[in-house]
Amino acid sequence: MSICFDDNKKIFKLDTQRTTYMIGLTQEGYVGHVYYGARLESACAAHLLRTGEPPFTPGVLPSEKAAFLDTLPMEYPTGGVSGYRETALELLNELGQNGCELFYRSYTIEEGKPELEGLPSSFKGAAADGEVMTLRLLLEDPVLNVTVELRYSVFEKEDVITRSAVITNAADKTRTIRKAYSACLDLDNEDMELITLTGAWGRERHIERQKVRHGRTYVGSTRGYTSHQEHPFIALVTPETTQKTGSAYAMHFVYSGNFRAQAELSQWDNVRMTMGIDPDRFTWVLDPGCSFAVPECVLTYSECGLGRMSRNLHDFYRNHMIRSPWLHRERPILINNWEATYFNFDTEKLLSIVREAKKCGIEMLVMDDGWFGHRNLDDSSLGDWYVNEEKIKGGLKYLTEEVNKIGLKFGIWFEPEAISPDSDLFRAHPDWALQISGREGTLSRGQYVLDYSRKEVRDAIYDMISGILRSANIDYVKWDMNRSISDIGNLVLPPERQQEISHRYVLGVYELQERLTKDFPDLLLENCAGGGARFDPGMIYYSPQIWCSDDMDSVERLRIQEGTELAYPLSVMGAHVCCAPNHTTGRILPFETRGHVALSGTFGYELDITKIPDEDREMIQAQTQQYHQFHSLIADGDYYRIHSWNDEQPYDCWGTVAKDGSEALFTYVQVLAKPNQHSKKIRLDGLDPQGVYELRTYGSETKNPMNGEIMAHIEDGVYTGEELMKAGILAGAVPGDYRSRLWHLVRK
Ligand code: DGJ
Repeated sequence: MSICFDDNKKIFKLDTQRTTYMIGLTQEGYVGHVYYGARLESACAAHLLRTGEPPFTPGVLPSEKAAFLDTLPMEYPTGGVSGYRETALELLNELGQNGCELFYRSYTIEEGKPELEGLPSSFKGAAADGEVMTLRLLLEDPVLNVTVELRYSVFEKEDVITRSAVITNAADKTRTIRKAYSACLDLDNEDMELITLTGAWGRERHIERQKVRHGRTYVGSTRGYTSHQEHPFIALVTPETTQKTGSAYAMHFVYSGNFRAQAELSQWDNVRMTMGIDPDRFTWVLDPGCSFAVPECVLTYSECGLGRMSRNLHDFYRNHMIRSPWLHRERPILINNWEATYFNFDTEKLLSIVREAKKCGIEMLVMDDGWFGHRNLDDSSLGDWYVNEEKIKGGLKYLTEEVNKIGLKFGIWFEPEAISPDSDLFRAHPDWALQISGREGTLSRGQYVLDYSRKEVRDAIYDMISGILRSANIDYVKWDMNRSISDIGNLVLPPERQQEISHRYVLGVYELQERLTKDFPDLLLENCAGGGARFDPGMIYYSPQIWCSDDMDSVERLRIQEGTELAYPLSVMGAHVCCAPNHTTGRILPFETRGHVALSGTFGYELDITKIPDEDREMIQAQTQQYHQFHSLIADGDYYRIHSWNDEQPYDCWGTVAKDGSEALFTYVQVLAKPNQHSKKIRLDGLDPQGVYELRTYGSETKNPMNGEIMAHIEDGVYTGEELMKAGILAGAVPGDYRSRLWHLVRK
């Protein structure tokens, strides 16, 4: 049993394979946090619940409420009645006064994992009975007559605990939720450092690490979606934490809208870690009898560094979040025409790409932006989801049939949440765009955002999209979203509910993706938002892959993909081979390196295959074969980060190892060559120490610039797992920047 309650000590103990989370009840009935960390087998650590601290002002009362609440590590701290650190819940009464105090009432423990209505959330999946358990704690504010059900689900094998809450108004008066976070965790400060994933368009999810200082340090989004800039993931680590050593506490938010993730170092030298919907742009009016579901937050703890943390999250998402039947299937190797043609294409151009692609082993054409309405630039037609037959001569059915005849599948691009001012849809329904009365709408990339909080808007878009999908043989959809959301208002909701729209919008997106994936169960759905601006655990509930970044420059990708892999399995990460010079950086990289780096994600090409140099095109055949050879190893294996270009090292190395240790694939990139360079000792990881492995290097041979002789791969050979991990192999230095190779290891 992974959850138990000690009635004498009033302690709930939640155990995963390697971690324990403990919750305690105080005499007053508050629900406090006791412990989160390495698994405790025997003791119950009840003494850690700080209920006996002296008051902080001179006084005689042993436990005055103000001091007590300021120091008590609360599981779900509330606002208004004292306790001045970050709160998780702020509720207003019918007079608009902010005050809430929650007291424990009862608990239940159940097998499995309940759903959260309207929201993406983890599930039991194929776990054995007893491996996924849920604790529900019922709390009440007797003055407001509001209940809060705190939910904790324990995923034993993956060392994950998820948290969420359901807030119910049992009063006969309205209550207003001003803030509702999903998780709060109080930890003693151990010189903690905060890891975040930050970025911009074209450089998403770069890893940053900073010391936690007094006060509140947070990342968040106010852009209506997850954003390129910040990511709903934070980890608190100790200074000595590396890939293999030290503590890491991670929180990851299963939500695709505004968020805030924070670490607050208090005067008592403890750190409060919180995660939830951004409170500044959110209120929710809770009518009598109504409930509000707070999105889920994923927590994991690793005492063996960041590597274990990442593997916990990878396993968790693969086993308990991604529902698509495509999860373990080989995804068709695609060729996308965006960077090949931008808006300038027609049926014949697409077919010429397809003919060439077929010869190289590519399996699917994705027709990107520009096939609908009269869209020849990014200034029109979003919302007019019917085929532009001037470009797609013969129509969509003809095009897909021709593509299929040549032997490729067909995928298509939509941007379902957008509306162009120059569109039939906008001319017919100008009120369908989000808007603030009396103000001119704010254009971004020439477009407005549709009001997805409204059912009639969603229904109309869905009818158009599903009509297109039924009109031809379409295997894949790329769902794009190309701007931050602004003008968040509409002409429908009453004034007191206008601040609900951001959340209602996100729920609307979820509803439509749910419909799409239910009605077209075999469809391969890829989410995208101007690259990776909506790459989050909420979206992988609907789509097994997300476009990682518009930046396909492999050197830039090293950082982007390392940050993404910190929290997501590689099978989720859209990665393509682009042309040279790269369209975002102008950098020219070897075709081989472009292939090796893209191989770590959902592999594909985004270039004009009819125009690239012959020697590059010739390499595609081998690359597509490698994808088939290594797909399941990359998609389902255990991930190990060996070296990082992000840490300013001149090289980068990562790999995946089959769960049974029988096979592994490591990618090594020499980003910058050094003069008088020597071979480099690289210690691999994750292998079977007793296993004997045959190592084969994939990578083109290199000519010695001095004498033109072919330089052999010095890494090839037979090694024990132990020597590869402890002593390492020698990665041969090769002349030139951006040189990469693959090391494939098979246990004999
Ligand atoms: C942004 C995406 O990330 C690109 O791949 C492409 O689909 C464009 N949008 C099209 O407008």
